[in-house]
Amino acid sequence: MFNFFRSLKSQDVLVEKPQHIAIIMDGNGRWAKKRFMPRISGHRKGLESVRAVITQCQKLNIPFLTLFAFSTENWLRPTQEVNFLMTLFQDSLKKESSSLIKNNIRFKVIGDYKPFPKKLINKIKELESLTEKNTGLTLTIAINYGGRWDILNAVNEFQKKNHSKKLLTQKNLTQNLSLNFAPDPDLLIRTGGEKRISNFLIWQFSYTEFYFTETLWPDFNEKAFMSALIEFQKRERRYGKTSEQL
Ligand code: FPP
Repeated sequence: MFNFFRSLKSQDVLVEKPQHIAIIMDGNGRWAKKRFMPRISGHRKGLESVRAVITQCQKLNIPFLTLFAFSTENWLRPTQEVNFLMTLFQDSLKKESSSLIKNNIRFKVIGDYKPFPKKLINKIKELESLTEKNTGLTLTIAINYGGRWDILNAVNEFQKKNHSKKLLTQKNLTQNLSLNFAPDPDLLIRTGGEKRISNFLIWQFSYTEFYFTETLWPDFNEKAFMSALIEFQKRERRYGKTSEQL
């Protein structure tokens, strides 16, 4: 599969390989419902797709992967499901931490995780610091994240530092966003058939290519990921210019 991607790249030299891929992992509940299983089984199975995508990014040397795991609006879900997601997240941090370290992955979390259980917060901080010097894939998990929250937070941070004396520039805002360590995503993948960005990285998506697929997240495997990259290869990224100017 890796060679296939490389050969495809040399045939269709339209765009570069994405440096940053963001994913809205949608469809876990529907995947479970189709199998008469509880919604939480879909989330558990979704974890396998998370692993598959991380492995593919490593194989292809894609430097940044950002996954939307829990939005500011997901608190509105039934308490049992919210609790399950917290536990799943905490357990996977515990289980996967040695593999993240071994694989040279830099682990980051963005979002307002203050309301999360203390144990989970400590684990996040510990893993971030254990992996901060890693030079491979930067894996960012967005939890209790909302694009509007992020922008407001960045404005407030800027004001605090500058006592509101200076006018805010695009650069200042970008520097104060929670994803300030990564370039803007080149590609957004959303599984599960919906065609919206659901308050994800609304500032950073200005020139991001969108790829929407009907595939439900637990079914999103290596082949599905490669299809997204192949589609991305066909896009012409003009950033406001004409085709002739590129
Ligand atoms: C959306 O599907 C999915 C979520 C809100 C949770 C995503 C979590 C995982 C994939 C597993 C844990 C991930 C990490 C990084 C530890 P949905 O429930 O909205 O599905 P539906 O639209 O079919 O109801």
